[in-house]
Amino acid sequence: MKTKIYIRTFGCQMNAADSGVMRGILEDRGFEFSEKPEDAELVIFNSCSVRDHAENRMFSNLGLAMKKNPEAAFILAGCTAKRYGEELFKRFPRLGAVMAPSELFSIGDIAEKVMSGGRAAALEGGSYGFVSRRGGVSEFVVIQTGCDNYCSYCVVPFLRDAERYRPAEDILREAECLAASGTNEIVFLGQNVNSYRDEKTGGDFSDLLARAAKIDGIRRIRFLTSHPKDISGRLIAEFASNPKLARHLHLPVQSGSDSVLKAMNRKYGSGDYLKILEKLRESAPDIALTTDVIVGFPGETDSDFAQTLNLIRSAAFDGVYVFKYSPREGTASFSMKDDVRDEQKKERLSAALALAKELALKKREGWIGQKAETLFENDDVGHSSQNYLVFKKGAKAGDFGGVRIKAVSGFRLIAE
Ligand code: 5AD
Ligand code: SF4
Repeated sequence: MKTKIYIRTFGCQMNAADSGVMRGILEDRGFEFSEKPEDAELVIFNSCSVRDHAENRMFSNLGLAMKKNPEAAFILAGCTAKRYGEELFKRFPRLGAVMAPSELFSIGDIAEKVMSGGRAAALEGGSYGFVSRRGGVSEFVVIQTGCDNYCSYCVVPFLRDAERYRPAEDILREAECLAASGTNEIVFLGQNVNSYRDEKTGGDFSDLLARAAKIDGIRRIRFLTSHPKDISGRLIAEFASNPKLARHLHLPVQSGSDSVLKAMNRKYGSGDYLKILEKLRESAPDIALTTDVIVGFPGETDSDFAQTLNLIRSAAFDGVYVFKYSPREGTASFSMKDDVRDEQKKERLSAALALAKELALKKREGWIGQKAETLFENDDVGHSSQNYLVFKKGAKAGDFGGVRIKAVSGFRLIAE
């Protein structure tokens, strides 16, 4: 009998991609996957530590999963495993292994060790490898790991190590493998994709996008996440010249106040940011722009927050993810006084979300009567080039092309 595994993923798309890689490696080793955690003999939690709330939610889910499945073995992978390391064996005696994100490619050996009754802590080493995997309609391909930016609030640089770039050859071979198995869209992933460099050719991120666009079967390319300080003129031009590049950019701004941006160590001002958006819209007028914002950063005054609302309004975003500041031990801002009261953080959160919603709906209503180029990842459900969710009755997974939008329901576009 083959061991059945269940992987539960928390947090960002990077974790989702890592879970996909773990699955590929484990399938190669002959493991099987179950749909439900209760049926699994080995349960892997791929964890997130970006905010306090994410971490606590993961811990309570882990405790619950252990209670529900008293026979199964457990592995904790991801950022929280790296953060607390072997300490976690005391808190969760049933844990078989803790595994840092950088150790992703050791999952096969670790799973075998845990299933034969052993215990493993893989927290320091590891490097990104290659896994040939079959894909669905849209698949993540990691191009870069780690982060060197040290935004003052963020734990990621401490948990995911220094910035490293995968060789373009490996990335393109993985994309070709996926395309051959039926994948139509690839999403290039990294903490900071714009600073990508291929050591062998010296090519930059725009070169990688141009090469990926030549792969047969790949109809659309997306990427995440970008840092405003690294957006190059070449990348902006790529939106105009590369028809396979989806017309969407997620560009986290974090705040509209220059003094808060400085304290966050973001290395740009609100004016620089708005200028980038202007150039992007000149290059690709139909581009959708989304962002991340943190409210209640230490020292954020009413006037700082008003500047964030102003920036959101002038940027006319298609979507804004808003987060309440969460102090993380080990980061530079942890030593700044967390002086915005939680009540105030909550108020700012709802004000920013309300504005974001108003803008997002207005943008979507503008699509009524227009044709939106859509790739259907599942029957009836797809995403437009702008990354809006699109519903079309009768569409089949893998369908790609323009669909006429007849209505908007919530944040979704409904096609004829
Ligand atoms: N508190 C609140 N939000 C945070 N983010 C990162 N670190 C923190 C923190 N300590 C947000 C940023 C980032 C997104 C992925 O998470 O907005 O872009
Ligand atoms: Fe964190 Fe900043 Fe790196 Fe993004 S760029 S992962 S927010 S340190």
